[in-house]
Amino acid sequence: MEKPFSRFERRVAALAAGALALLALGGCTLKHPTANLVEGKQLFVQKCGACHTLAHAATQGQVGPNLDDAFRQDRADGVKSTSIQGLISYWIEYPNLQGVMPAKLFTGQSAQNVAAYVAQVAAIPGQDTGALGTAVESAAQKPASEKNGTVEIDADPTGQLKFLASSASATAGRVTLRMSNKSSVPHDIAVTGGGVNDVGPVVSNGGVSSVTVALRPGTYTFFCSVDGHEAAGMKGTLTVK
Ligand code: HEC
Repeated sequence: MEKPFSRFERRVAALAAGALALLALGGCTLKHPTANLVEGKQLFVQKCGACHTLAHAATQGQVGPNLDDAFRQDRADGVKSTSIQGLISYWIEYPNLQGVMPAKLFTGQSAQNVAAYVAQVAAIPGQDTGALGTAVESAAQKPASEKNGTVEIDADPTGQLKFLASSASATAGRVTLRMSNKSSVPHDIAVTGGGVNDVGPVVSNGGVSSVTVALRPGTYTFFCSVDGHEAAGMKGTLTVK
């Protein structure tokens, strides 16, 4: 009797016929003992985490599937990490063309490093330790306060979905909220509350977004209005006195 295809193989086959060939080669060509997992994690946080939740990488993106959930059943079925790595490499190169995931965010060794990292940690309990544990330093958050009518609230430079301040303060009157975004993940800065509702332009790669509003004393929320970013934690409270 022929061995039925496993759930994982069927899933790969659903992607494209080519993926199966890739999977068959999996054992030898895709095992990259030299994959740099530390770099893989850093790149994942920079370019993938804004859309994907992955617990080990502490990313909370919600545009694409949660990658722990996506591979949990495969782990339970005993699918090897090298096969999972192959599937992820394939996705990086050939995502669903009708979908929103951009193709070839990474190529060559960088793509291998990202795929190897995700394959190592997806749906695995626990936390990254050692060099992986410190691969992505979270810039510390501290309160922002207004200077000369401007409150500077920058985006996290590593691409994580947060601002460098979760609280801010200003005096009543015309206030400009200004955000510099060094990461490649697109962000804007928006403010809402007390009848105010305004948003600056979406920027990335060193761009600056700002919004100027007339504020009365009270409590407002500042946030990034790009899809899913506020829900993932990219927001804070602005207190006006
Ligand atoms: C702009 C958002 C976005 C970015 C950036 C993004 N993805 Fe995706 N990804 C998606 C979406 C949405 C899907 C679901 C399929 C579709 O619609 O294309 C997906 C699907 C996937 C899948 C398949 C999951 C499954 O259920 O089998 C993997 C693996 C994946 N992405 C990995 C990555 C990696 C690795 C990166 C970084 C190189 C990345 N994605 C960057 C949005 C994104």
